[in-house]
Amino acid sequence: MRAAEISDQLTEVLVTEEQIQERLREIAAQVAIDYADKNLLLVGVLKGAVMVMADFARCLPMVAPMDWMAVSSYGAGTKSSGVVQIRKDLDEDLHDRDVLIVEDIIDSGLTLSWLLENFESRGAASVEVFALLRKPEAAKVHVECKYVGFDIANEFVVGYGLDYAESYRNLRDVAVLAPHVYA
Ligand code: XMP
Ligand code: MG
Repeated sequence: MRAAEISDQLTEVLVTEEQIQERLREIAAQVAIDYADKNLLLVGVLKGAVMVMADFARCLPMVAPMDWMAVSSYGAGTKSSGVVQIRKDLDEDLHDRDVLIVEDIIDSGLTLSWLLENFESRGAASVEVFALLRKPEAAKVHVECKYVGFDIANEFVVGYGLDYAESYRNLRDVAVLAPHVYA
């Protein structure tokens, strides 16, 4: 798909690459302070968090091991099913680790609330969340999220790791997907 065709499928750029990078630097500075004396483990949720993990981790002025988990609750649609399936489990033992989950987006919150409970049951010393994006109007369950990049409206967004049916992840900005694409 060429650039002109892609722009026809997006209605609006919500967050630019520059805004993302600036916010990542701010949050990383705060995380570096908060985790200075902790046993930090970054856990990225595949695949959406790949871009934010790569850029965020490189903003951190400290040793920051990372692990990955793949879960699915969406299929190819645009609404969370609430049924979370582990597609790839962690490699690391969470015992006594201070886990910081790195997520692309909190929509209904169903996936994260399931993950938080799951990680706490594995003996982590602490579990906190950093989500690049959050849709406050879409929340179905409350999720305690310590670090939030941007609160956005309740629209389906793509880019910077976020996909629709595996497309658009490589866009550099976060943009609203035109409803005609998935209607
Ligand atoms: P929930 O609803 O459980 O969302 O908080 C979990 C996961 O669903 C994906 N998600 C989106 N992906 N545009 C996307 O490309 C969106 O607007 C969107 N909303 C949710 C995402 O992977 C999130 O972690
Ligand atoms: Mg995700």
